[in-house]
Amino acid sequence: MASRQLTPFAVQVVQGKRYYWCACGRSQHQPFCDGSHEGSAIRPLVFVAERNEYLWLCGCKRSGTPPFCDGTHKRLSPDEPFGSEM
Ligand code: FES
Repeated sequence: MASRQLTPFAVQVVQGKRYYWCACGRSQHQPFCDGSHEGSAIRPLVFVAERNEYLWLCGCKRSGTPPFCDGTHKRLSPDEPFGSEM
């Protein structure tokens, strides 16, 4: 299983399908939610794919345009906390 990372995930999505992007960084099924946020105030971000395509989904959990990567990860150091560690 993929874990969170300081780079984006390239994910193929299906038009009309609902996705739950992990916002806490705890999921073991990145970049998607596996319920590991339970017990925290953080909830997954829900989105519906507009078309069949590949998307770059944020892995660092610091994007200003979640669930999509906006390049913020390029300014983070490898030891900087992210996700629920913030
Ligand atoms: S992985 Fe690019 S902004 Fe988070």
